[in-house]
Amino acid sequence: MKIAIGSDHAGFKLKETIKNSITGVEFVDVGAFSEESTDYPDHIAALSRLVQRGEAQRGIGICGTGIGASITANKFGGIRAALCTNLFMAEMSRLHNDANVLILGARVIEDAEAVTMVRAWVETPFEGGRHQRRLDKIKAIECGG
Ligand code: RB5
Repeated sequence: MKIAIGSDHAGFKLKETIKNSITGVEFVDVGAFSEESTDYPDHIAALSRLVQRGEAQRGIGICGTGIGASITANKFGGIRAALCTNLFMAEMSRLHNDANVLILGARVIEDAEAVTMVRAWVETPFEGGRHQRRLDKIKAIECGG
């Protein structure tokens, strides 16, 4: 599985930790590439476009709280970005929401928990069924990107 991953300066260290801890996936890193101050919309838009175009199957976006990254990613049509703060949310975002982008707040969760969440998020399938009907309704109301 190819995963586009991006962060701002606040998420840089967690992004590196995730890349170094998760095996069996190919990461496409769209930056930031240091802790120098940068703007999260630039990196989150880049990873969202890769997922939107099918050039990556999934995306992971990180900023300080996850809030700005979440707002940005969900502007893109076809992106279902889930801001998750614990393992249960990460699993449910796959089972019920078929989230194709996982958003994390580097200043909100511990690195070890984030890695556990990413592992589960990568491996958890979408349940489909009634949940697909709900995603179809979201698709019907989304406005481009
Ligand atoms: C950067 O200081 C911070 O505002 C950003 O990482 C994020 O938390 C925004 O939502």
